[in-house]
Amino acid sequence: MTDELAIHGGKPAVSINTADLWEPPIEEEKRAVCELIDQQFLSGSGKGIGKQFEDEFRAYTGATFCLTVDHGSNAIMSALYAVGVGPGDEVITPTLGYIGSYTGVIHLGARPVFCDVDPNTMLIDPADAEKRVTPRTRAILPVHFNGYVCDMDGLARLHEKYGLAIVHDACHAHPAGWNGVNLGSFPDVVCYSLQGSDPFGKPVSSGEGGMTTTNNREFYERMLIYCHLHRAGIEAELTNPAYRMLGNQGLGLKWRAHPLALAIALISLRNVGYRDRRRLEHRRMLYRALEGVPGVRIPKPYAKARDGGFYGGLILFYAPDDLGGLAPEQYMAALRAEGVPLTPRRDGPEHLRPLIQKGFDLYGHGRGPIAPGSNTYKVGDLPAAEDLCRRIMFVPAYIDPPEGLLDQIVAAFRKVGAFYAK
Ligand SMILES: Cc1ncc(COP(=O)(O)O)c(C=O)c1O
Repeated sequence: MTDELAIHGGKPAVSINTADLWEPPIEEEKRAVCELIDQQFLSGSGKGIGKQFEDEFRAYTGATFCLTVDHGSNAIMSALYAVGVGPGDEVITPTLGYIGSYTGVIHLGARPVFCDVDPNTMLIDPADAEKRVTPRTRAILPVHFNGYVCDMDGLARLHEKYGLAIVHDACHAHPAGWNGVNLGSFPDVVCYSLQGSDPFGKPVSSGEGGMTTTNNREFYERMLIYCHLHRAGIEAELTNPAYRMLGNQGLGLKWRAHPLALAIALISLRNVGYRDRRRLEHRRMLYRALEGVPGVRIPKPYAKARDGGFYGGLILFYAPDDLGGLAPEQYMAALRAEGVPLTPRRDGPEHLRPLIQKGFDLYGHGRGPIAPGSNTYKVGDLPAAEDLCRRIMFVPAYIDPPEGLLDQIVAAFRKVGAFYAK
């Protein structure tokens, strides 16, 4: 290993092309889409490709019910509606999160309450969430970020102790599980996105789309009436007389998924197993090799977690104390100069966003859950997340990496860790 860092003109540690060798089955996708065009099946739900996808996703997750919708964020909003979130309620969600997770909270007239994360995992800290429970808390909204699984036992305790609903944002985590069981069959409702395309999109992807899974018939029926206007068979599905009397119009929203997108999603679902196993295998190799390298820490998944999906890449934490307090930007620039395909987390914590800090008159006339002047968050309130946001780095979750690439990536981390002072 030469001691001259590439950022100062030395030879980069990574010389191999960093593109993943896995190729998406584009010809198969074209055939599936063209078949539907030939059949003129371009609209509809509850039948055909939509039903087929939902049945296969149910089987994949082990859930009793599955509903496809047009986006992951709408999947979450319909789930929040299903569990009874409404005006005046509070929903606790991690500040190291994403607006698409909690936008439905706001639009239902409820207030997102941000909590801190576990610094070892960057995921919701159930103990911190518990401190924020009030009589107005209706639900917890954990985010299984990048396919890393939250502390499901901790969340289950909050569910039991306070009767809070749990709506899971598993938009990045279709293959993930807990204690040998896929997340999709956990209470109360689990939500997914289908956004993007393989291999860079959500673990199962189709351009745009989303779905929810649940084992609870009441929640299923509430999601059906909420946003599945004219779904085939909807009236036969509704057992609650108060819902059945709405007929096939339900409450009138039509958020269903596009059949062409679901044709692509079905192919993605059928090959996610291979992609996920390979990613997990390469994560194991990379994490093992980086253990103890100065400047970098690896997340410590919960013992029962079976992380999976890895949308956005594999997580690494920069440890500035190892390198004399070197700024994260400098460390990451040095690694990128060595040829490591590394990206920092771009977003800061949610509680410090202008939307939350300044508020917004959502419904006009000073109404709405985040009215200007109502903010109570300030810098320093959620310290673990605020600190981590600057230190999180992603490297690609390789499916089929070129021979020797992972070794070169590890060598780059070792080199920067060893010679940073220069
Ligand atoms: C964590 C998370 N939650 C929710 C969503 C919303 O999904 P969609 O883009 O399909 O609405 C996304 C999308 O990127 C996401 O990353």
